Amino acid sequence: MFYHGFLSISDICWCRLHHQKETGLNDQASQTAETAETPPAVTPKQTIVLVGLMGAGKTTVGRRLARALNIDFVDADAEIEKAAGCTIPEIFEKFGEASFREGERKVISRLLDEAPKVLATGGGAFMNDETRAAVKAKGTSVWLDAEIPILLERVSRKNNRPLLKTGNPEEILTKLAAERNPVYAEADIRVLSNGGAHEIVVDKIIDALKAWWQ
Ligand code: S3P
Repeated sequence: MFYHGFLSISDICWCRLHHQKETGLNDQASQTAETAETPPAVTPKQTIVLVGLMGAGKTTVGRRLARALNIDFVDADAEIEKAAGCTIPEIFEKFGEASFREGERKVISRLLDEAPKVLATGGGAFMNDETRAAVKAKGTSVWLDAEIPILLERVSRKNNRPLLKTGNPEEILTKLAAERNPVYAEADIRVLSNGGAHEIVVDKIIDALKAWWQ
């Protein structure tokens, strides 16, 4: 095992909170750390799998995290589109959500068998029992958690999420959060991504990974 089995998600969050209290760091104050030339050294031992709701910042943060760790970044949704030869809205429209979910499960299973990387997953991926079991066995999962207004603001910038087109996006995200957050909470690490610079979130993830893998 690469990590301490006894280190729970709440330990990680508590440690971080405790550390922030001790050092007087908060999201704003840690802005200075974010500009540091040398990122905190951590050698990725497993694929880092980012999970969380639409708009949590999995792709944006994931790219930066991969750069900081000097490993590849892969976006599962982009891989599904590549494999299917069409966009996610097209997959939903032509083949239905069930078909998308099947493709999602297969693609993530394949990606987890490759070299360690940062893998951003679509918001529904971790809800699949098989995918969740594979992530638990082969990866280190990070739940990027954010409040609904933040998610809403971020998803409003793009029009490529079929689930949000079926009604009021705020109501849909609120419902999905209620259903999914207890499952995302099974991730190894939880990091808040409530606005502010993405680099701050990256630093938080690296700190948590260091603790998890030590
Ligand atoms: C989905 C999230 C999307 C994409 C698809 C379904 C979901 O990915 O996989 O539209 O079920 O939450 P993002 O979380 O990257 O937006």
